[in-house]
Amino acid sequence: MEQEKVIVIDFGGQYNQLVARRVRECNVYCEIYSYRTDIEKIKAMNPKGIILTGGPNSCYEAKAPACGRELFELGIPTLGLCYGAQLMMFTLGGNVERAPVQEYGKTDVSICADSLLFEKVPEKTVCWMSHFDYIAKPAPDFKITAYTKDCPVAAAENQEKQLYAVQFHPEVLHTQEGGKILSNFVKRICGCAGTWRMDSFLEDSIHAMQKKIGSGKVLCALSGGVDSSVAAVMLSKAIGNQLTCVFVDHGLLRKDEGDEVESVFGPDGPYELNFIRVNARERFFKSLAGVTEPEKKRKIIGEEFIRVFEEEAKKIGAVDFLVQGTIYPDVVESGLGGESAVIKSHHNVGGLPACVDFKEIIEPLQSLFKDEVRKAGLELGMPEHLVFRQPFPGPGLGIRIIGEVTAEKVKIVQDADAIYREEIANAGLAQSMGQYFAALTNMQSVGVMGDERTYEYAVVLRAVSTVDFMTAEAAEIPFEVLKKTMGRIINEVKGVNRVFYDLTSKPPGTVEFE
Ligand code: XMP
Repeated sequence: MEQEKVIVIDFGGQYNQLVARRVRECNVYCEIYSYRTDIEKIKAMNPKGIILTGGPNSCYEAKAPACGRELFELGIPTLGLCYGAQLMMFTLGGNVERAPVQEYGKTDVSICADSLLFEKVPEKTVCWMSHFDYIAKPAPDFKITAYTKDCPVAAAENQEKQLYAVQFHPEVLHTQEGGKILSNFVKRICGCAGTWRMDSFLEDSIHAMQKKIGSGKVLCALSGGVDSSVAAVMLSKAIGNQLTCVFVDHGLLRKDEGDEVESVFGPDGPYELNFIRVNARERFFKSLAGVTEPEKKRKIIGEEFIRVFEEEAKKIGAVDFLVQGTIYPDVVESGLGGESAVIKSHHNVGGLPACVDFKEIIEPLQSLFKDEVRKAGLELGMPEHLVFRQPFPGPGLGIRIIGEVTAEKVKIVQDADAIYREEIANAGLAQSMGQYFAALTNMQSVGVMGDERTYEYAVVLRAVSTVDFMTAEAAEIPFEVLKKTMGRIINEVKGVNRVFYDLTSKPPGTVEFE
């Protein structure tokens, strides 16, 4: 049976992925395509509905991103959001102009006509607005269904042609009834049944992989991160011990992390796969000795990783397939237009070797968002501590130790980080926090402990809240939690006499330190 699908046509809006995620929350499969996508390709996909995103342009400018009138004549229900709404009106003969009053943020919206789109939405509601232009006059045969104080056309529609336009952003959580509005569109207007479910996705993907791989050999570079772990478990369900996972332990992992990964994927774990843990700690430390320049450190770690991986791959020999944990945002970001063949190097492992002897790449998670990958992990019965693991950079603690990396410094940062994570968990903050970790500054300073003068390292605690990691704010951790963490680190971690909390947002800072 053909999977029902809604497509999002992207005009450069900052919320394009959010729109797709919201649609998937209605259990409807959704993919994002560039506005440049050929109309014939769109027709061939046979979508149940089309959503046009917002975007930074003015649709009446000569070079503004556009879609042909034909898109609106396909007979497919279409919903335009913000720029998408303006473009729909403009293309079909309405007026779009610079708004005399620009709206930004939460805005009171009044619904003024019956509409399937607003079914069960109260007449007065709050929506998220962000626009310079506005629809001064809707296209012919469109009726206005909502307005605001400054915006005469907050929503308009031509029910017969199944064309809907809203000036606001239903995908943003600040739009009170946004979920209901999108659900009305995909379920009531597009007629989607909502059959996209994780269990059936997993079943279908596992069958598809079995068919593709046959009796071939598959290699997976396992970092212990969420994506590669879930990909490995999916593959192990599909092909059992035809799969070999290579886990390069570079000695720059968080405390006990190597053992945790081994306990899940190793011989005592629940999966039937070949697992190779390469203890390459000494090798990495040796290559990093005396190196202080951040980019050089990153390069050394990446290259060393590849070398170790290649050596292992050669020992296994004649591998047919290589598994990558690419997820949907990587696909979207690596080239819009659904060109999923564009394969990004795996960031978790710093770029996989090009010269390993394999025929094809398998990316079982390439259609999933991060939260869906986590759902898949839980559905596959993976332990929560693996599934809800925070993002951890491929170069590991190597970029959380400012300056030269030594075994002593790694131990300090591992111990401090473990305490910090424990205290965050004790305070019940673990699930709500974006990313948090301890790092080691390159600074030693004078302190006093007992009656003794000390001259030791300063640890820095970092915690950020972020949606997409492109920007981030320092998280407001209760002072008591920070104080308790500081006390424990000073008392329990040898070599530390000072603890800082990093208040820097991104930009100008980055999340990591190097
Ligand atoms: P930055 O420091 O760039 O971090 O603000 C943003 C997010 O990316 C992660 N990060 C990396 N992840 N390999 C990775 O797999 C890397 O080299 C790397 N550098 C940063 C970082 O942990 C944060 O989540």
